[in-house]
Amino acid sequence: MRGRREPSQAFCELHGLAFPNRIGVAAGLDKNAVAVGGLARLGFGFVEVGTVTPRPQSGNPRPRLFRLTEDRALINRLGFNSLGMHGVAANLARLRRHARIPIGVNIGKNRDTPTQEAHRDYLACLAALHELADYVTINLSSPNTPGLRDLQAPASAAALVSSLVTERDRLTRGRPLPLLVKVAPDLAPEDLEATAIAARDAGADGFVAVNTTLSRPPSLRSGHASQSGGLSGRPLFTLAVETVRRLREAVGAEPLLIGVGGVADASAVEAMRAAGADLVQVYTELVYRGPRLVRELTS
Ligand SMILES: Cc1cc2nc3c(=O)[nH]c(=O)nc-3n(C[C@H](O)[C@H](O)[C@H](O)COP(=O)(O)O)c2cc1C
Repeated sequence: MRGRREPSQAFCELHGLAFPNRIGVAAGLDKNAVAVGGLARLGFGFVEVGTVTPRPQSGNPRPRLFRLTEDRALINRLGFNSLGMHGVAANLARLRRHARIPIGVNIGKNRDTPTQEAHRDYLACLAALHELADYVTINLSSPNTPGLRDLQAPASAAALVSSLVTERDRLTRGRPLPLLVKVAPDLAPEDLEATAIAARDAGADGFVAVNTTLSRPPSLRSGHASQSGGLSGRPLFTLAVETVRRLREAVGAEPLLIGVGGVADASAVEAMRAAGADLVQVYTELVYRGPRLVRELTS
């Protein structure tokens, strides 16, 4: 059983990291680590930058981002537009001196790297960015890079996590650098459980749940609902909380668990926490509401 929950707006220490509050910015908003200072000033307790790829890449052709206004949702198929790991490392090195909140770095693979060689991309990103990160998220779940989600298969996830854990231990020599795995909301419950246990047993310190969904809930009203890409925002919330609950049940109390997907108000934060999330991230609702949302969730 998990102990009595501390308020989400209170300072907390988790896995060796100090968070001024439990509300963070999800990956994809600040892909290249250019906005961390501003996001910290808005009141966020942590920021996850990226996804970062080893080499720079421009992502998919436009249009690639759609507002489903009636549904308070977005569909994106950005496809990892990234400055590349060296460019992002330079940006992080500049801002690290001033950052007073934990910074997670979310890493992925280049589109043209074959899936069977993907581990090289993740290892390269870890080597280039480990000194500048407070935690690292292994992104296995973006729907817009062909083959990426195949890495969630338990054997693939375990092999990848285990090589990254070995490399992390070699590089950091004891400094805490939690390695988290970001999962999709589209796995069948038994597959989610198998993947989570395989990743945990291979040494993953925690999970980020969830990425965008390829599913399209029948409730969607916007004309953009049939665009291809990952759906985020309020229609994702139920699926996200359910995934967090299943993950927590599967992996037990110890792993760090970040809940994300459709969080739009304080009661959604509470529901994520009750389902087992230690920390909560937001993206889409911030696009609709702006900085007011941060104040609402952290005050
Ligand atoms: C425009 C956009 C870009 C995103 N890019 C990334 C990304 O690069 N890496 C990643 O792990 N997740 C990415 N995400 C997913 C978010 O981090 C988050 O998991 C998802 O949007 C659900 O949260 P939300 O409903 O609060 O937006 C992106 C989401 C959006 C809307």
